[in-house]
Amino acid sequence: MTISWLKDVLGRMEFYFNLLQYFKKIVSEASERVETVDESFEPQMRMADERFGDFQANGALPYAKKNGLNPRELAESIAAKTTSSDLWEISIAGPGFINFKLKPEFFLTWLQELGDMEDTKRHLLADSPRRVVLDYSGPNTAKQMHVGHIRSTIIGESLARLLALQGHAVIRDNHLGDWGTQFGILLYAIKRCDISLDKLGEEPVAFLEDLYRKGNDLVKKFPEALDKARLELVKLQNGDQENLSLWQKIRDLSLETFNQVYELLGVRFDYAHGESFYRDQVQGVYSVLQKYEICTEDQGALVVFHPEHKRFAKQPFIIRKSDGASNYATTDLATLAFRKKEWDAEHIIYVTDGRQRDHFEQLFMTVKKWFQVERVECPTLSHVWFGTILGEDNKAIKTREGQPVKLMDLLVEAVERAKAMVQEKNPELQEEEVERRAKIIGIGAVKYADLSQDRTLDYVFSWDKMLALQGNTAPYLQYAVARIHSLFRKVGKERSNLASTSSTPQSDSEKKLARKISFFPLAIEQTTKELKPHSLCVYLYELATEFSSFYNQEKVMNEDQDTQNLRLFLCAKTQIILELGLDILGIETLEEM
Ligand code: ARG
Repeated sequence: MTISWLKDVLGRMEFYFNLLQYFKKIVSEASERVETVDESFEPQMRMADERFGDFQANGALPYAKKNGLNPRELAESIAAKTTSSDLWEISIAGPGFINFKLKPEFFLTWLQELGDMEDTKRHLLADSPRRVVLDYSGPNTAKQMHVGHIRSTIIGESLARLLALQGHAVIRDNHLGDWGTQFGILLYAIKRCDISLDKLGEEPVAFLEDLYRKGNDLVKKFPEALDKARLELVKLQNGDQENLSLWQKIRDLSLETFNQVYELLGVRFDYAHGESFYRDQVQGVYSVLQKYEICTEDQGALVVFHPEHKRFAKQPFIIRKSDGASNYATTDLATLAFRKKEWDAEHIIYVTDGRQRDHFEQLFMTVKKWFQVERVECPTLSHVWFGTILGEDNKAIKTREGQPVKLMDLLVEAVERAKAMVQEKNPELQEEEVERRAKIIGIGAVKYADLSQDRTLDYVFSWDKMLALQGNTAPYLQYAVARIHSLFRKVGKERSNLASTSSTPQSDSEKKLARKISFFPLAIEQTTKELKPHSLCVYLYELATEFSSFYNQEKVMNEDQDTQNLRLFLCAKTQIILELGLDILGIETLEEM
């Protein structure tokens, strides 16, 4: 059986990757053939309770209510007009739900159509690819990345991968905080202590961070120090050669340090323009917003109010401070205009912590007004925000000394802990291989612990939980993949030869596993819609759990070759989905664990 079932049913040769959309279409088409129904009918397709079926259309009920019809009768007439197929059963439940229960043959055919890894990736491609800018990580230079930056980096990277796999043109831009008032203080401290930036030792950025802290103490205590620091900042902003070259050096040193973290995390950027890139464009922002009367002067500052908004009618969006300096808002306005103009961005996604929600809401409102006046189409703007990482005491995570946890230290510890795990399981393993596995397991665990939480919630960071081989963790998913590899090593069969298997899923656990695999596109759809990787994690965990019970209940190496081939085929498909799903999360897998 090949794609003909769809050809028979729909009269066209098309493989429906997303089954929810497929059944939605079937119900929609059926409804058009029912006289009492007009085009306002919405099938409201969702996954059904397993006991009743696989997909369920709930739309008859609200439609009947609104139009004075009997819901059950309406559901029945829609069902009657539905293209019949011997690959599924339709039934009406409750007051008017239309249930589709798919036969094992259906799942088998679908899985055969899914194909190998490359085919599966091809099915993911979006119909209309867009140009998407992903703005994530964005640490501040002259400071080390601490644990707070991990969420933006990991969530951002995973969304970038998700969208790139769907064929969108993704531009990854690291919006560094590299042009703030902190440089006045830092430059002042560097000069006062006569420090050579070429001789900062092993951890130059840690040194600079410390130096900044000392400088900050000074300017707080002595007004003349503050004046001098301000002067250094003005000089920098006016293009003073000496200060600019010091600043550049600090930026380079910082990026070098950030890159070590990115390398370990497997993250890369196309650009790291940062705030400084836009420093000459802020003047243009002031004048354009003034010209369109979008901003006003308020106590010496230039601000934007949004009278139509409850809070932002009074809470200003400050775009130029009363001392004349630009700020975070100004550079963000310039950045957005640049991304539209130079990159023709159709969607811009910002990944930052939840405390910046007001900033982005005000930014988006301001830009929409600006672009509207200019009759420029505004890109879709999304603020993907996240909560705080908590320590086991339920407070924002800190070191024992009460300092923020440095990201690099955290990642190194993750790898160390994973290493102990690997060594314990395989005492004979070569050092190099131990290191390789430890990195994949340790980094994977940290990433997954973050991604598997609904990003809008705070979560508690726990080494033991994230590295556990049981439960909703990366090692658990990686272990499922390794098990499948080991199975194929033992049986010595080619995965590609199994697609012609003719026996259909029979047993309960075979059917459940097949069904679960077919829901992968739905998980991708939801993750993309909400820009929430945890939906994908939930799905992958359920799939791995379904696989475990299949594996424990069924003897894959069955003597009966047809049965064995079907079971191996299910394993091969599970592997593809787990590997692909983890790849989207930026997590590598292993053939042996
Ligand atoms: N540097 C900022 C921070 O540390 C993040 C930058 C986010 N991106 C942006 N376009 N504002 O919070």
